[in-house]
Amino acid sequence: MPLFSHQPVLLDEVVTALQPKAHGRYLDGTLGGGGHAAAILGASSPDGFLIGCDRDPAALAAAQERLATFAGRFETHHCDFKSADRWAAPGSLDGIVLDLGVSSHQLDTPGRGFSFQNDGPLDMRMDPSSGGATAADLVNGLPAEDLADLFWKWGEERQSRRIARAIADERRQRPFTTTRQLADFIERICPRRGSPTHPATRCFQALRIATNGELASVEEGLERALPLLAPGGRLAVISFHSLEDRLVKDFMRRESRDYEFEGPVDHPHLRRPRSPRGRELARRGIVASEPEVQANPRARSARLRVLERMPQP
Ligand SMILES: C[S@@+](CC[C@H](N)C(=O)[O-])C[C@H]1O[C@@H](n2cnc3c(N)ncnc32)[C@H](O)[C@@H]1O
Repeated sequence: MPLFSHQPVLLDEVVTALQPKAHGRYLDGTLGGGGHAAAILGASSPDGFLIGCDRDPAALAAAQERLATFAGRFETHHCDFKSADRWAAPGSLDGIVLDLGVSSHQLDTPGRGFSFQNDGPLDMRMDPSSGGATAADLVNGLPAEDLADLFWKWGEERQSRRIARAIADERRQRPFTTTRQLADFIERICPRRGSPTHPATRCFQALRIATNGELASVEEGLERALPLLAPGGRLAVISFHSLEDRLVKDFMRRESRDYEFEGPVDHPHLRRPRSPRGRELARRGIVASEPEVQANPRARSARLRVLERMPQP
């Protein structure tokens, strides 16, 4: 297995957003290799405290090693960040960071099955100990229409129906078991035609999101995270694709409003005043500088959004 390697993105920007301070209490819901956590602990010396969560036991082990110099100032939990309120009381935190998606380590470990750059089992579970369905279970088991919906909804794949129908035909002869088998098959159905992006990229994104229930976790996790912050505390969220970013943006806009409404449409007559729960900082989000993108191409698609908790009446 490769050594745990993951370069945290927008590191300075996250530290600037959270303004860690001595005595502060922080939550890193996506600990990964512990890069953001180490920076937060460093900046909140000598006694800032951090609660760290990750769904991936391998990430937790790597983070514990990375953070060893801060022993006594952090605790780690093997969990989905949407359950972080089991370890933090309402109003008890000064900052929360969520760096969504998968780490480079997960992507670069063929046995995890996230990537088609190297062949591996079609797994994609962030938590392999969960016993939940793998990507192969979805590809081989879902009805063709559901598979098409999945590719469309979570991959925004325009050829979703064609690809799903072809998969359903193929799997009758030979089930899909490896990442390259699936990627090569999709490339045969939808040839690349000069595009720099591999034709399987969107379907892989969709399968990863579905296998891990990623967007549901983000939606629920954001709702449950905000009340954990003390007034003035900040929630910093980094997303890597438009579906995630839309959820984060909509959440932050909604929480910053000084009114609420019932039903699907925001109509002035249906509004009821309330005090905003948050204040959005940098409304368009913060993206990586060109030097960071040069040094770490993964940073190209990252967008950081920040919400500050407002005092409640
Ligand atoms: C982009 S990496 C985080 C890297 C980390 N910030 C660092 O500096 O090394 C994302 C991590 O979040 C974890 N993860 C993703 N969604 C999660 C969730 N809903 N709950 C807990 N961990 C999650 C993944 O397993 C992965 O280790």
